[in-house]
Amino acid sequence: MTSGQQKKIILTGDRPTGQLHLGHYVGSLKSRVELQDEYEVFILIADMQALTDNARTPEVVSSNVLEVACDYIAAGIDPERTHIVIQSMVPELAELYMYLSNLVGVGRVERNPTVKAEIQQKGMTDHVPAGFFMYPVSQVADIVGFGADLVPVGDDQAPMLELTNDIVQTFESLYGGGALKPIEGMYPKVGRLPAPDGKAKMSKSLGNALHLDASDKQIKAFVNSLYPGIDGRQIADPGVIDGNVILTYLDAFDDDADGLEELKQRYVKGGVGDSELKKRLLPRLQALIEPIREKRIELNKDLNFVKQSVHKGTMAGREKAGRILSGVKSRMGINYAETLFKGIA
Ligand code: TRP
Repeated sequence: MTSGQQKKIILTGDRPTGQLHLGHYVGSLKSRVELQDEYEVFILIADMQALTDNARTPEVVSSNVLEVACDYIAAGIDPERTHIVIQSMVPELAELYMYLSNLVGVGRVERNPTVKAEIQQKGMTDHVPAGFFMYPVSQVADIVGFGADLVPVGDDQAPMLELTNDIVQTFESLYGGGALKPIEGMYPKVGRLPAPDGKAKMSKSLGNALHLDASDKQIKAFVNSLYPGIDGRQIADPGVIDGNVILTYLDAFDDDADGLEELKQRYVKGGVGDSELKKRLLPRLQALIEPIREKRIELNKDLNFVKQSVHKGTMAGREKAGRILSGVKSRMGINYAETLFKGIA
């Protein structure tokens, strides 16, 4: 990258309702760490979005904001380069959301498959908070509010990115001027990690997640609980690949593709125990988690460093979002500070 050339912007985020887990790591944290040299990265701790389904227990959100920040930094996010931003401290995003919400129909919001699935999963069928229903539009404001070019997220976020581009297109066709630009999604090669029993995805709300600061003992118990795809298999029986959660995790965490392929071939022939797969996986997960756990312990001793980092990132985010909001209001003809009231007070 030559000097003077603007780095492209990446925006991504998480709801702070618990510590981050392995699913977050493979789903997006890993790529964020890898991308922070080449891009200007904003990571949003989306506390306002988290409140859309935690309004009755807001402490679930507030108590996890710094936890998530610690997870980021421990996992390799460098606050010198990456802006860690707390959503509620950037009111410009809420304002932007208000304007953008006029550009999308209720029917479109209703059809969002991720929101529909969440409503089922969270048992909200009788009472869907209006804010929850609308959170994808708020997420669009997050994405355009930082001028993102690229958004690395899990596949479940694809509807939000599609919505972003639709709203950007509507905005531009109505008001023009390039205040908002389309974005590109960036999806992980490895799909969402399954739960140990293979029946659902790894998720903090389902209580099946392996945290990024898990102890060796917890990692071991987790690996031992992974489902091999069939019940009651004897070592002599052929192993199965489809639905084998141990293999799915090996696919995600084993860089030695040839070695893994060789093991799979032996495994499907029979005579190879599930324990051999687990033995291969365990040290790989331990090697991944151990440095994160150690770094987290260190950060906990100096939370001031974490706080200062997040504060700095949030201020940078505010500045960026302020400029975008001002551009949006100008295009809509309501940037009165720049027109009617220019020079007054
Ligand atoms: N909805 C995202 C999730 O649940 C979190 C999020 C909020 C986000 N704002 C964002 C992701 C902006 C990407 C960009 O994981």
